Amino acid sequence: MPSDEQPWWQRAVLYQIYVRSFADSNEDGIGDLPGILAQLDYLEWLGVDALWLSPITVSPDKDWGYDVVDYTDVQPVFGGMRAFDELIAEADRRGIRIVIDLVPNHTSDQHPWFQEARASRDSARRDWYIWRDPNPDRSPPNNWRSSFGGGSAWTLDPATGQMYLHSFLPEQVDLNWWNEEVREAMDDVMRFWLDRGVAGFRLDVAHAIVKDRELRDRPPDADTHVVVDLEETFAVLRRWRKLVDGYEPERILIGETWVMDLARLAGFYGSGADQLHLAFNFPFVFAPLQAESLRDVVERSEELLPVAAWPAWTLSNHDVVRFPTRMCEGDERKARAALLTLLTQRGTPVLYYGDELGMQQVEIPPERESDIDGRDGARTPLPWNGAWNDPWLPLGDNVAPVAVQRADPTSFLSFCRELIARRGSSPDLVSGSYETLPAPKDVWAFRRGERTVVAINLSDESMEIDLGGGRKLAPWEGAILDG
Ligand code: NOJ
Ligand code: CA
Repeated sequence: MPSDEQPWWQRAVLYQIYVRSFADSNEDGIGDLPGILAQLDYLEWLGVDALWLSPITVSPDKDWGYDVVDYTDVQPVFGGMRAFDELIAEADRRGIRIVIDLVPNHTSDQHPWFQEARASRDSARRDWYIWRDPNPDRSPPNNWRSSFGGGSAWTLDPATGQMYLHSFLPEQVDLNWWNEEVREAMDDVMRFWLDRGVAGFRLDVAHAIVKDRELRDRPPDADTHVVVDLEETFAVLRRWRKLVDGYEPERILIGETWVMDLARLAGFYGSGADQLHLAFNFPFVFAPLQAESLRDVVERSEELLPVAAWPAWTLSNHDVVRFPTRMCEGDERKARAALLTLLTQRGTPVLYYGDELGMQQVEIPPERESDIDGRDGARTPLPWNGAWNDPWLPLGDNVAPVAVQRADPTSFLSFCRELIARRGSSPDLVSGSYETLPAPKDVWAFRRGERTVVAINLSDESMEIDLGGGRKLAPWEGAILDG
């Protein structure tokens, strides 16, 4: 398909911003929306097309924004709604789109909906959440576990004597997605933001929204902590797809589809055009930096996803160890190779802020830990000049700051920028099909589209490859060849 007919989100490079740590405009140590606005120049220079902002809505921050008390207002520390409107307007002028994080699976226990629900067993909103009586011995109604800490996913509400379900913290209460009013309320939330100009939503916990109606025990081999009604979850995705499809220009749904089975991942796309636009590929995130493993995930994804579906690739996010540490042992050559694999696939690549610098996981002293699940090391402030005033998390020093790397044509940042530009100017790389090419073990070689060949040496040895003309690849070196 020629690239000018391709929808914007298939041609785009996405960039995830962990708002608290990206750029701080007022020097209170916390990144904010005016900070992002002030760095749009940088993002434009880098060449990214759309930003996914981690949650910006109002939250008591038990799970840093993933516990929402108001879905339709912006956290004051980020600059409030005015700052958001300004950011959207300025980004729009530059052709940069903004996708926001939406958390439909659960609300904060402080959300007015839950306050009302818990007030009494006959509250009009009681059924917006999932309540059950404890067993006579006071044990929870089933064996579901919370994702944080691994304890029961049920907590007793002493005032009404029932237990409520929480897939995460007890302060993150699961909504009852069998309730039509809940569905309508979330439709309204989506319309609110779409009308304000967002380019779409990254859907938190998209893999587990509708729970098993009978709350059956989790079998030993289940891949979520709670039992999910997957078909009904897909039905909700189709409802949302219809809703966003009513908007022009095209808006997208990108799902946090945390499943390790690629056949299951394929299901989230539905027909390829009626559920999610993009579904994160976690098997790719967790594959080791080895030709065979990465190639295997890509080949099987190509095989299993519906023909009309479009993959989404990423190496890092705010929940996992940064890729240069996790996959590359801090070796910059390996990190360049990994970045090359990300930016040359068929599908939309999603960078995590700092990936462009080769930023590594930062060691957090115990007294500075702030996350309930040990993820702070992947969420530290972006080093612009190597200093932040009183940063909320320690500023790492494992990578040269933006200012230094920007001035150095041989830096990781320059490498990343060139790759993005190369991708953008190549119709083959933007939209061409994927085909594995024969290559020595430890080299991953593939053709993209008609003429472009990518070969990446994922080993400590130099490798001779024969892709017309013969070519030597140094250890961990990759090449993009026209030919
Ligand atoms: C997935 C988010 O990415 C993670 O940060 C959060 O803790 C859980 N969902 C719960 O919302
Ligand atoms: Ca700030």
